[in-house]
Amino acid sequence: MAFNGPILLKRIPDEASQRKLIRYDDYVASGGYKAYNQALAMKPEDIINVVKDSGLRGRGGAGFPCGVKWTFLPKDIFPRYLAVNYDESEPCTFKDRYLCEYDPHVLLEGIAIAGIANRISASYIFIRGEYHTQAKILEEALKEAYEKGIFGKAYPGTDIVHHCYVHRGAGAYICGEETGLLEALEGKRGWPRIKPPFPAVAGAFAKPTIINNVETLACLPYIVENGAAAFKAMGTPTSSGPKLMGVSGHVNKPGVYEEELGIPMGKLIEKYAGGVKGKYKAAFHGGISMGVLGTNQYDAPLDFDIGKAFGVLGLGTACVTVMNESTDMVKVARNCVRFYAHESCGQCTPCREGSAWAYKMLNRICDGRGKAKDLDLLLEIGLAQGIMPGTTICGLADGTNWVIKTILQKFPEEFKAKIKAESVQGVDVTVGGVKV
Ligand SMILES: Cc1cc2nc3c(=O)[nH]c(=O)nc-3n(C[C@H](O)[C@H](O)[C@H](O)COP(=O)(O)O)c2cc1C
Ligand code: SF4
Repeated sequence: MAFNGPILLKRIPDEASQRKLIRYDDYVASGGYKAYNQALAMKPEDIINVVKDSGLRGRGGAGFPCGVKWTFLPKDIFPRYLAVNYDESEPCTFKDRYLCEYDPHVLLEGIAIAGIANRISASYIFIRGEYHTQAKILEEALKEAYEKGIFGKAYPGTDIVHHCYVHRGAGAYICGEETGLLEALEGKRGWPRIKPPFPAVAGAFAKPTIINNVETLACLPYIVENGAAAFKAMGTPTSSGPKLMGVSGHVNKPGVYEEELGIPMGKLIEKYAGGVKGKYKAAFHGGISMGVLGTNQYDAPLDFDIGKAFGVLGLGTACVTVMNESTDMVKVARNCVRFYAHESCGQCTPCREGSAWAYKMLNRICDGRGKAKDLDLLLEIGLAQGIMPGTTICGLADGTNWVIKTILQKFPEEFKAKIKAESVQGVDVTVGGVKV
């Protein structure tokens, strides 16, 4: 592991007063679009191979290897599309916004490189509905890129012209799920699709489509220019490269920071975010959907192997929200579940009904009207295969499960305290059949 960054944030000063929008000329003057020009001279398969060799894994949450995903496009079927996931609606997550608000061309260069590698005809940047200013910034940058011939031009030796569009969402979390995004892009309600077919085979407008997160694409200029080995020199063997990490909550200096994957969370907080305000209690390390890290998990390494080792779903977005000793974890659970109940698209009964019922139960526990059996019911929703886990079309329901079960399992005493009145009347509180 060796990080001499920043890589992705290299054009954005740490000091807020010095930050300004990087326009095309400044971007080029600082080495921008060099990798794009290199890629133009490369064979598509050589670009795909260098991305595969770099070990770049998706930065949108699931961590799927980027180069491998690209190889799923069926051979010789055109047109092909790229959907750029700039929906960024995961709570606690604001890394893509920060990057593109100042340096939109690093994303556009990444899109142009992915386009060359995969012979893409149209790239659609699906941007979160609430990102009004950021959409305007992107549209301006895209105009510059068109004027300079980055888009709207055929790839060398082909008649495939690459166009790029900014498509604004309408403010639904579910449109960040890749197939919900495709539906919304097609002008329909953002309902995730049942797979197969997978988007690489039949995606946007039923054509082969790749979906990549903003940050994943923004890594491409560095990889093409510096090679796979340079990228792999950062991070861990299974989690290579730099990562944007938004830090918020009870810290002294919230913000977006860049580090190599594998940095212990506590080190990130202390090195960049000015340490915890008060005494550390818990943290969401990857948006809320990955579940919570407990009080003794402050130094969990932020890499793609975090899941099993620390009792969470995975790395997610690697955006950390810190909670100190003043935080009521039952109310945190209620808040998160309210979000999922509101954002569930309603297609799958276990997600629609499960999240709404869990919210009702958490509400009454918070109000002091909780019953001992509510905890067992909540855990059943969170844990039992066939109740909610494993029964739904998309991963939104998994987010609900993981928030419920990790907060309950890591902070059972807080739930117990809230239903104390009933315990005093002689009812034991059990969690998953175990008396707590
Ligand atoms: C409910 C839900 C919301 C999601 N929201 C986002 C999002 O806002 N941005 C994003 O990049 N990925 C999001 N994802 C993950 C995408 O489905 C997909 O894995 C990702 O865009 C693939 O890009 P990557 O491989 O470059 O990470 C979400 C997934 C789920 C289940
Ligand atoms: S899991 Fe929830 S959000 Fe996802 S498709 Fe089913 S109902 Fe919709």
